[in-house]
Amino acid sequence: MDKHHFSPPLNFNRWIEEHAHLLKPPVGNQQVWQNADFMVTVVGGPNQRTDFHDDPVEEFFYQFKGNAYLNIWDRGRYERIDLREGDIYLMAPHVIHSPQRPEPGSLCLVIERQRPAGLFDALQWSCAHCGTVIKRYEMQLQSIVNDLPPVYEQFYATSDAERRCSECGEIHPGRDWQTWHRTLEAAAQA
Ligand SMILES: [Fe+2]
Repeated sequence: MDKHHFSPPLNFNRWIEEHAHLLKPPVGNQQVWQNADFMVTVVGGPNQRTDFHDDPVEEFFYQFKGNAYLNIWDRGRYERIDLREGDIYLMAPHVIHSPQRPEPGSLCLVIERQRPAGLFDALQWSCAHCGTVIKRYEMQLQSIVNDLPPVYEQFYATSDAERRCSECGEIHPGRDWQTWHRTLEAAAQA
């Protein structure tokens, strides 16, 4: 006879308290359930970055504590979407985004789906000065926790010459997000 599987609800506030030590650097995020089609993750600040994520499925955000924002790369131009405390946001597939969480203690619930075979994620890094893509790595994502860090390390291991923009000559600073963000702000004001 088929057995229906169901597990008891979690108390979300208690879950947050129990995982608070992981929702800040150096870890910064935790997945609530393993081996489910919904990948339910809580992400904490502070965390800022230079990589952009191209997700083949929708992402749902609930910024339930503090404020954050998404840098968006749209065909070579940069935009910004603010996620203020209390905001929910449903992001369409392939909106190429880079979450910025400057506030310590900020918390966001993020829900994604497992990727069907043949739908590829990508991480890309682009020139803060002119928007040209410097590197893009595609993958059949199976685990957010295991599959992404090696790609970051691969990019951070590149030489300055490999991170030199083919259009404007600006050198992408790799993991140095402060420098990258300063260039982005200067370019926006130019
Ligand atoms: Fe450039």
